[in-house]
Amino acid sequence: MKDLINKLAEEHSLNLEEYEALISGRNEENTRLLREFAVKVRREIYGNDVYIRGLIEISNICRNDCLYCGIRKSNKNCERYRLTPDEIIECSNEGYELGFRTFVLQGGEDGYFTDEILGGIVKKIKDNHPDCAVTLSMGERSYGSYKFLRACGADRYLLRHETADSQHYSRLHPLAMSYDNRMKCLENLRSLGYQVGCGFMVGSPYQTVKNIAKDLKFIETFKPEMCGIGPFIPHKDTEFRNFPPGSAEMTCYLLSVIRLIYPPVLLPATTALGTVNPIGREMGIMSGANVVMPNLSPVKVRKKYELYDNKICTGEESAQCRNCLNERVSKIGYRIVTGRGDFRVPC
Ligand code: 5AD
Ligand code: FES
Repeated sequence: MKDLINKLAEEHSLNLEEYEALISGRNEENTRLLREFAVKVRREIYGNDVYIRGLIEISNICRNDCLYCGIRKSNKNCERYRLTPDEIIECSNEGYELGFRTFVLQGGEDGYFTDEILGGIVKKIKDNHPDCAVTLSMGERSYGSYKFLRACGADRYLLRHETADSQHYSRLHPLAMSYDNRMKCLENLRSLGYQVGCGFMVGSPYQTVKNIAKDLKFIETFKPEMCGIGPFIPHKDTEFRNFPPGSAEMTCYLLSVIRLIYPPVLLPATTALGTVNPIGREMGIMSGANVVMPNLSPVKVRKKYELYDNKICTGEESAQCRNCLNERVSKIGYRIVTGRGDFRVPC
């Protein structure tokens, strides 16, 4: 196994069988070795810096019905909300005051956010704060829509691929959604000049070691600027309610692997990781992650954007989360930097 880890650290590539062996062979010793390599390469590129992104959850109204997701269309217990454009702008202004220089607008696939409306919001944020990056995380849209939003000033787009195995994809999503379209969207975003983020859940229902190996191979070939991975956490109002959550340990192990596959990738220690383990985000950073994404949404809507049960930080004000993360990150010897925190092109 040591050989495999050395090979990954040197060549940034393994074949599918080797990835499978790496995933199956997780133990304390391998975890430590991978973590040491991952932290070293991250330090070479990003030093001790951890980037901070302000997440604004703009709507929990969604036309989709992903089986794992708490805000899926068919969840009748979900109390729906949508922020107005003014409320969204207000959140970004408040975030700017707190030092944020990247705003992530995330939401369900809500038909209200037409290109004109969403594009107008992006433009306004960029006009108000030309030194900021705007990231969208609004699901699958047409090529033309992505193009329009890019022209309005959107810099980055997050669209997790969810799983790089089409059969597994179809077990997590309704028939109406297609793996091919998901992948096409990622290609379209890339071709339009967005910094693109993909990603997947760790321990999602029916996920096998082979599936994860494919995810890793996909990341190796696609080379996303960002990659969001976090543990699957069941939501009580979905049919996956009785599946066990993914583990913080496996998530951190994979964070180290992904850091080695593509050293410059921007890798968040996710809220889901902080939800399955109270120090999950710290563990993530110590395994190779270099981004945190505290919540900037108005407190009155936070509990409603519940993709999974027991999500953390739903009662805190933006400033509280900002300070809390500052402390958490500096306690483990890193520092939060404000600034756009763009992807650093490897030389
Ligand atoms: N547990 C963990 N992550 C989830 N997501 C959606 N539902 C869950 C859940 N139950 C993730 C998906 C989605 C991202 C916004 O949140 O990967 O892409
Ligand atoms: Fe939100 Fe700690 S990050 S309270």
